[in-house]
Amino acid sequence: MAYETIDWQQNGSVVIATLNRPESLNAINQKMDHELIDVLDRLRNDNSIRVMVLTGAGRAFCAGDDIKERDAGENENELSRDLSGPGSVLTNNYLSLWNNVDTGKPIIAAVNGYALGGGLELALACDIRIATTNASFGTPEITLGFFPGGGAPLRLPRILPGSIAMEMLLTGDRFDAETAYRWGLISHLVEQDELLDKATSIAERIASHAPLAVRAVRELAYGTNDMTLSQVQRMSAFSRWIIQQTDDAQEGPRAFVEKRQAEYHGR
Ligand code: CAA
Repeated sequence: MAYETIDWQQNGSVVIATLNRPESLNAINQKMDHELIDVLDRLRNDNSIRVMVLTGAGRAFCAGDDIKERDAGENENELSRDLSGPGSVLTNNYLSLWNNVDTGKPIIAAVNGYALGGGLELALACDIRIATTNASFGTPEITLGFFPGGGAPLRLPRILPGSIAMEMLLTGDRFDAETAYRWGLISHLVEQDELLDKATSIAERIASHAPLAVRAVRELAYGTNDMTLSQVQRMSAFSRWIIQQTDDAQEGPRAFVEKRQAEYHGR
């Protein structure tokens, strides 16, 4: 299926989804919001896909909510067009990493420029973030008089040290990629022409692993934040036992012994 605002490219088991409204710095309008939800549904339901790379066309990853659309809609039914409201890609379960339900598959944010407001929130909802040297990050909502409703106040303090997270949230200032790298907001800093190669190589590395084991690791990493240590240990032991029963868990050691590349089928 072709999208109007997102370019979808599947190579093997890795999909590269490119936000494609460069004239608006890939700001999320209603159309893109709906199409992103569809993209995430596809990622979740299509077993041929194991990992997704999310990036942007042009000089931005994403400049956040489409402010012009928001402004033009002031006299319309605000609830029906609120990208921070229930059902929006920014808040629904698929990108809620602290919720047990999501796509079940890793997403890598390949940040190629501005990641602001809802754009940063999209990146925060991804498993891994890498960025180019010209990228910048911020939550400018507060400077516009509204609230970062796509998860930044929840996620930033869990990803960054408290003082840094609160400085970002409360000043609304933009921070450059070098600073983001030093803070640990991104795990790799690369030149523009290296971005997709780097993101794809990480994606392919993950995609080469047993999908059920990848899924179980994500569940443990994200789904246990509110649990006690003993609850997490029980869940971890249970996950380990389940994964141990899969065909892929037999295939890994067998391939090691036979000195060949393992072939995983998600069973
Ligand atoms: N919505 C709609 N259009 C946007 C946009 C946005 N968020 N960001 C940029 N654009 C448009 C600009 O209006 C401009 O369009 P025109 O050529 O038609 O004027 C085009 O993209 C290029 O932008 P600039 O000319 O402004 O480019 P610049 O390099 O001078 O500045 C920028 C880049 C600093 C990112 C600046 O565009 C900017 O500050 N954008 C707004 C960023 C922002 O505040 N994002 C938060 C949105 S609110 C949100 O996301 C809420 C939430 O919680 C979900």
